[in-house]
Amino acid sequence: MNRNIYFKSMFIFMCAMLLVVFVLPFKAEAAGDQWDKAKERGELRVGLSADYAPYEFEHTKDGQREYAGIDIELAKKIAKDNNIKLKIVNMQFDSLLGALKTGKIDMIISGMAPTPERKKEVDFSDDYMEVNQRLIIQKKDKDKLKSIDDFKGKMIGVQKQTTQEELAKSEMPDSQVSSLTRVPEVIMSLNSGKIDGMIIEGPVADAYLEKNPNLSYSDVKFGDADKTTAIALPKNSPKLMDRVNKSVKEVKDKHLIKDYKDKATEAMFDDGSFFSKYGSYFLHGIGYTILLSFLGVVAGAIIGCFLALMKIGNSKILKAIASVYIEFIRGTPLLVQVFLVYFGTTAVLGLDLSALICGIIALIINCSAYIAEIIRAGINAVDNGQMEAARSLGLNKSQAMNKVIMPQAIKNILPALGNEFVTVIKESSIVSVIGVSELMFNAQVVQGASFDPFTPLLVAAVLYFVLTFTLSRVMYFAERRFSVSD
Ligand code: ARG
Repeated sequence: MNRNIYFKSMFIFMCAMLLVVFVLPFKAEAAGDQWDKAKERGELRVGLSADYAPYEFEHTKDGQREYAGIDIELAKKIAKDNNIKLKIVNMQFDSLLGALKTGKIDMIISGMAPTPERKKEVDFSDDYMEVNQRLIIQKKDKDKLKSIDDFKGKMIGVQKQTTQEELAKSEMPDSQVSSLTRVPEVIMSLNSGKIDGMIIEGPVADAYLEKNPNLSYSDVKFGDADKTTAIALPKNSPKLMDRVNKSVKEVKDKHLIKDYKDKATEAMFDDGSFFSKYGSYFLHGIGYTILLSFLGVVAGAIIGCFLALMKIGNSKILKAIASVYIEFIRGTPLLVQVFLVYFGTTAVLGLDLSALICGIIALIINCSAYIAEIIRAGINAVDNGQMEAARSLGLNKSQAMNKVIMPQAIKNILPALGNEFVTVIKESSIVSVIGVSELMFNAQVVQGASFDPFTPLLVAAVLYFVLTFTLSRVMYFAERRFSVSD
């Protein structure tokens, strides 16, 4: 393509992106009391990270999946007190504040401490619990790691963006800190000896120690680190704040937290084999993974076709648009695209889309760029002489394209498209970050619910492999059929 126009359009595109970056922060916080918004949609959206028993986790009851835990009971109470339907939105802990600020959720009930830094971004209800911070280690290190000094140069694991992360940095400055996204990942690191200790909230530590007999408390105490737990709300929502505080007050007056905790403990330790309890999670996950990848590839192929035609066509403008789009999408990580779609649709476009829809859109956008290149390359691979021959037989350009070039190009395109499908099945695991209930997400849920960080990952790996291997076998046979028809 004409280099000049290509660079020009790239430049314009980058300027536009910069503009968005600077304008976005001002648009993100929409005005109005969050209670009115929740009421209008008839649903109270409570965000949390269900990796945190006994606060919040998923379990199966009579074959049915449900959320359980202290925070869940509290959320149910608030919804009931205010006569509104409850919707639990489960996502990574470090995405919660962003989701609250962009209006994806109405509040966060996720064992969150009302810290001064967070208070700059959001408001907090009255406290509903007090907790202490503990350091857990492998049992075999019990005699070696007794004081903060013993942890000099050692690795301390914490969940990312939590008060435990702050605590590790401030109280244990001579140790190295490893921050991971989800609690089960930190536990897994501790179990496998990748880290030497983990800072974790007392009640959560109790739950994990019960299920991991090779772990134990260390004697280290964090004196003044006892923290409170409260509900985070968007700034300037007095009506919502009032309603929440009323429920919190009642919970405290009637000492309901203890009941909630007992109920959570009961749910934590219900029995059954791994597969009878969690098989349905994986099945559900596979369904969504297939759905996501299928839609991504099919819709991506349709859009990709247009992009490819724009790129090989004669119009310079269309060519430039297609090139910029394809370069940008292929030059940025899918993870970033997923977050951009998830938060951008709300913050910039003001749309209220579910995580699933956002995940599908992100995958389609991503696939379309790759597939456009597959199609373009497939068409370009057809020998130039074919076009000339077809034209000299009297076909016009589009007839030549449809009757001569495309049938040959398809043979180049289909196998590559199949490979793209295989890739997307694996890549779709990334949309788990925004809480789309696909295979990886469900594996993580099971990690949290079973207190076993390893087995669910292994099962997920096997299932992904079964999916991709089956698909590539099917393609292999299809390709052979095709070449026979040569
Ligand atoms: N209390 C800690 C904090 O406020 C950690 C909370 C983590 N919660 C969770 N659901 N994983 O940062």
